[in-house]
Parts: sequence; C-alpha cells; structure tokens
Amino acid sequence: MAEKQTTLVCLVAVTVLLLIQVVESDIGVNWGTISLHRMSPSTVVDLLKDNKIQKVKLFDADPDVMKGLMGSGLEVMVGIPNDMLALLSSSVAASDLWVSQNVSRYMVKGGVNIRYVAVGNEPFLTSYSGQYQSYVVPAMTNLQQSLAKANLARNVKLVVPCNADAYESSLPSQGTFRPELTQIITQLVSFLNSNGSPFVVNIYPFLSLYGNSDFPQDYAFFEGTTHAVTDGPNVYSNAFDGNLDTLIAALAKIGYSQMPIVIGEVGWPTDGAISANLTAARVFNQGLAKHVLSNKGTPLRPGVPPMDVYLFSLFDEGAKSVLPGNFERHWGIFSFDGQSKYPLNLGNGPLKNAKDVQYLPYRWCVANPYKNLAEAANHFKIACSYADCTTLNYGGSCYGIGAKGNISYAFNSYYQLQKQNPRSCDFDGLGMVTFLNPSIGECRFLVGVSDHTTSSGFMLHNNWISVLIILWDAWLFLM
Ligand SMILES: *[C@@H]1O[C@H](CO)[C@@H](O)[C@H](O)[C@H]1NC(C)=O
Ligand SMILES: *[C@@H]1O[C@H](CO)[C@@H](O)[C@H](O)[C@H]1NC(C)=O
Ligand SMILES: *[C@@H]1O[C@H](CO)[C@@H](O)[C@H](O)[C@H]1NC(C)=O
Repeated sequence: MAEKQTTLVCLVAVTVLLLIQVVESDIGVNWGTISLHRMSPSTVVDLLKDNKIQKVKLFDADPDVMKGLMGSGLEVMVGIPNDMLALLSSSVAASDLWVSQNVSRYMVKGGVNIRYVAVGNEPFLTSYSGQYQSYVVPAMTNLQQSLAKANLARNVKLVVPCNADAYESSLPSQGTFRPELTQIITQLVSFLNSNGSPFVVNIYPFLSLYGNSDFPQDYAFFEGTTHAVTDGPNVYSNAFDGNLDTLIAALAKIGYSQMPIVIGEVGWPTDGAISANLTAARVFNQGLAKHVLSNKGTPLRPGVPPMDVYLFSLFDEGAKSVLPGNFERHWGIFSFDGQSKYPLNLGNGPLKNAKDVQYLPYRWCVANPYKNLAEAANHFKIACSYADCTTLNYGGSCYGIGAKGNISYAFNSYYQLQKQNPRSCDFDGLGMVTFLNPSIGECRFLVGVSDHTTSSGFMLHNNWISVLIILWDAWLFLM
C-alpha cells in the first residue's frame, strides 16, 4: 500500500514536472559577430557554459564560431542572411549545398547541436520595402526538402525571425498583420505550423521609447506603470506583454491562435543615447528575466510564456551600422571582452565574466599633451571612421570629455583596433603611447583583445618595443 502510494506520488510528481517543462521558458542569447575585437570562440563558449546559458542564436553559420560550438552541447539556431534568400528560393542545388555545408557537416557526434535554422533576419522590415518578402516561403520550401533529404527534418526546424512592425494596433486584442503582409504571413505560419516550428518575433520596447517622445517611459519597463493600457477585461502594465498579445491576436485572426512563440531578440542598450544606459538596461533585462521565468504569460495566454527568449545581445558589436542610432553598437550584456556590464541574474545567479581573456598589453594611445592639436581634426575623423567613437556623442558615456579627450579617445580606439601596432599611434607625431589608464569616470578607454594569431616572433619584437615605451613614458612622467 505504502509502496503504491509512493509510486502514485512519484507519478504525479513526474507528470507535474513534465507539465511545467512544457510551459517553462528558457533564456538564451544572440551571439552576433560584427565586432571590432573578437574573442576566441572557445572563450565565448566557456562564458556561455559558466553562465548556464544553454541556447544561442547566430546570424549566420560562421565556421570559426561553429567550430567553437562543437561538442559544447549548447542548442544552436544558425542563421541565413537576407541576401542569400533570392538564391535559396530559386535553386534547389544551392539549398542542398547550404544545408550540407552549414548544417549536415556539424550534425555529427561531437558536433553542433543545431535545433533551428533562421531563414532570413527580419525580412519583412518596413524599411526593406518588400525586397525580400517574396523569397521567404519559397526558400523555406527548398530548405525543408534539403533537410528532409539529409534526414534532419525532424531535429532541425526552420523559422523566420520577424520584426514587430509586421503587425500593428493600438489595443493588443485588435492586433493584425500589416495588410500587404497578410497573405505571405499566412502562408508562412501555415508552413511553420505543419512542421511544428514556432513563430519567432523580435520585440524592442527600447525602440518604441527611443522613436516616440510620447511613449510613457515606465510602460517600457516591468516595474508597474502609471500608464497601464486597458483593453476590455485586460490591463497591460508593460510594453512587452502588450506587444506580444498584439501578435497573438494577429495570429488568431489568421487562424493560428495556438501558435507557439519564441522571442528571437529582446534587450536594452547601455550607451549611445540618453535612454540607453546601464541602469535602464539592468532594470529592463532583470525585469524581463523575472517576468519570463515566473511563467506568468500574458493576458491572452495566461500561464504560457514564450517558449524561449533570446536576449539581444551577448556582446557589443563595434562594427555595426549606426544608421538606427549610436546605441546600435552597445546592446551587449557583456562588453566586447566578456565582462558583465551590470549585475544581472538570468535564473542561475549573477552573471560571471569571461575567464582567461587574452588582452593586449595594458597601454593606451593618447594625444601628446605637448603638441598643438589644431591639426588633429582630420586624424580624429579617419580614426573614428575605422574605430568606434559612438560613445563621444551626446547621450554617450564619453560625451563631455573635452576636445583633447575626444582626440585621445579616437587615437586610442584606432590604436587598439590596429592591435597596438606602434605606427598606428603616430598621427603625424600627435599621438603618444601611455601606460597610465586615461579612462575618465564612466568613459572607458579600452585595451584590445589579442586575436590569437600573433606569431611568437612578433611577440618578442613587441616586448622590446614595450620596454622602450615604458622607458620613454617614465622619462616623460618624470620631466
Ligand atoms: C554557409 O554559411 C556561411 C556563413 O553564413 C556562408 O558564408 C556560406 O556561403 C554558406 N555555404 C553555402 C554553400 O551557402
Ligand atoms: C537612463 O535611461 C532611463 C530610461 O530611459 C532614463 O529615464 C534616465 O534618465 C537615464 N539615466 C541617465 C543618467 O541618463
Ligand atoms: C567631442 O566629439 C563629439 C562627437 O564628435 C562632439 O559632439 C563634441 O562636440 C566634441 N567635443 C568637443 C569639446 O569638441
């Protein structure tokens, strides 16, 4: 009797666990690689594992990154860039080749655990004026066949990360897809549904706030609001839920009210705009993590949070286009060198920093204080056209460090980008290497990371230069 009871209790417990597992949301990260300073993929994979981040979303299938992920057990979403969609939609051979080169070859023992292929990235974005949208479903059709031929269709699901501007409405329950997209999205969702794939959407309350001065500040966060949105019986206290339910209503309108949803990107930048700062990013991302992990769901799907949520982003990416704004290079929860920017708990304790990061020597390039800097403007411009100087602008962490500070910052950013090549600190004699950290308050003058390709011969040569520079610095300092 007692034994039977225990069995029953166990059974119930297992069932409950299974049920919980079904609705439990996982937090993963986007790993973009449009960086100026790249850490070795194995260091990045260790960072993910140390932080118990199990899921990672990529924007392509970079062989170096894929090699780093081999044997890690992490669940991976690889991506296909938009500019490949036309080819993949029109050529079965190209689709077969893409799958064999970028999926099959990694799906081996000790390989990469690829779960999803993202077909395009936000291909329906309004600013693309429809140039990709007709390729999406045909490309998926080809890729699905290629996966089936490779015997991978059951393990690898095709998805399409959609921008939130694919749908609209002032009240969540009234959500609809943009009229010109309704037909294509209906085809897409029907395709996803028949293959057991989720709908992937990117949601950015930051952009709503940044782009609209009337947007109520506190509605962007998860801490209660004085601007709740009342929609019939439902009350929305944060933009994330409001946006998600707008999508859920839009999906219901085309006949897919039960479609599972994954958040492909969500996050908050830390620099490059007034509303992009460390405090706001911490409050938003921590609020989001708490909200998602509570499994509360939304008013239209109570108790059913998104299947997975991928934070944007793992790292800052200093080479991204700043067309959307200077903040675009500052989305990381970690800085480019794997250091956590602010305390954040994604359910496994505070974030841990990357270990064994290979920094270049601790030295910086600054404007020589003994030189007339009137001639520096052109050097400043050129340095900043290669390196990232976005923090110097209004709203950035280095705004207000003065004209000389600006020049030093630009010189240093360029010097580090050039892996501290001594010639890259010349600037017609206006630059000077220093061993005193020139960082001022919040404004961090970076030291680059090594790319692991430096030959030992170069290192030796480099060390001699270091010694000479130390002597020169000491002399300047003593003068
Ligand atoms: C595989 O993916 C990489 C990275 O996205 C891309 O450069 C390459 O062209 C792809 N291979 C094929 C055959 O399309
Ligand atoms: C940081 O961003 C928040 C939210 O957008 C804003 O209210 C606040 O003023 C910003 N803080 C600073 C110091 O600029
Ligand atoms: C420093 O550079 C930024 C960005 O170019 C500029 O907006 C600012 O006015 C500069 N400051 C000074 C004192 O020149």
